[in-house]
Amino acid sequence: MQFQWYPGHMTKARRAMQEDIKLIDVIIELVDSRVPYSSKNPDIDQLANGKSRILLMNKYDLADPAYSEQWIRYYEEKGYFVAKVNSKKGKGVKAVHDVIKEACKEKIERDRKRGILNRPIRAMIVGIPNVGKSTFINSFAGKACTKTGNKPGVTKGKQWIRLNKNVELLDTPGILWPKFEDQEVGLRLAYIGSIKDELYNLYELSILLLKYLQEKYPDAVAEFYGIPKKETAEEQIAEIAAKRGCLKAGGELDLDKAGKCLVDDFRAGKLGAISLELPTNVENK
Ligand code: G4P
Repeated sequence: MQFQWYPGHMTKARRAMQEDIKLIDVIIELVDSRVPYSSKNPDIDQLANGKSRILLMNKYDLADPAYSEQWIRYYEEKGYFVAKVNSKKGKGVKAVHDVIKEACKEKIERDRKRGILNRPIRAMIVGIPNVGKSTFINSFAGKACTKTGNKPGVTKGKQWIRLNKNVELLDTPGILWPKFEDQEVGLRLAYIGSIKDELYNLYELSILLLKYLQEKYPDAVAEFYGIPKKETAEEQIAEIAAKRGCLKAGGELDLDKAGKCLVDDFRAGKLGAISLELPTNVENK
């Protein structure tokens, strides 16, 4: 399956982010834990330019914990401070304060030596669409926070959310765009719903997803739908159609509808905690 995708205003967004990054001490990058590589835009590596980096494995609840542990080690070895969070439920969110402190330890020490005390750490959230940036900010900042802006020392027009006396967060997240040159990356992003459904054939996508599930999570589909396991993805989708009553006007099985049903159930986490890639799939890329 081929993906076509043209991020129109990417250059402008990139330039704006470059300016914002100059103002901050630490970049908090969110990824989707089911695809911690595919949901991460490599451009940020250049934009980050020596800033401290925190990687938040969001939607941790939807991913396979054994896979996530491997990813945490993978990114820690690359120099990131890594934390797993479920922003929707607020799990792991408070601990991010400690991670920020840890990531900025050297900077705080440098400031102290120069006689600068208690200058808040400035942070910025970045990530591709739909990884949960707004959900995380709402959970992390909560209602108690106060917005600060247009005050001396704060660039005009920038709004900061004062999280506590130690941390300020830029209130608009930096949106990066997924990278599509690699078709495998495109496919995984389609599975999780980060690419518009109009850009691919949903039935084909569901067959590819089923093949992956049959290989890596062989019981997930049969268990969730209460259907027998089938040898091929095509037979399995027909079972789903029959079980869910996906029928066309003439009574024939509606496989497109069954495909959509499977993809939706997967995205919502109904098939269980499932990951789509491992560090071994992306090494040397
Ligand atoms: P964005 O700003 O990065 O674009 O993402 P946003 O916060 O809008 O979140 C995208 C979707 O991901 C939302 O679902 C949100 O609820 C969900 N989400 C965010 N964090 C988590 C998490 O840790 N776990 C799970 N399971 N879901 C998460 P939605 O269907 O678009 O909205 P809603 O119906 O959940 O409100």
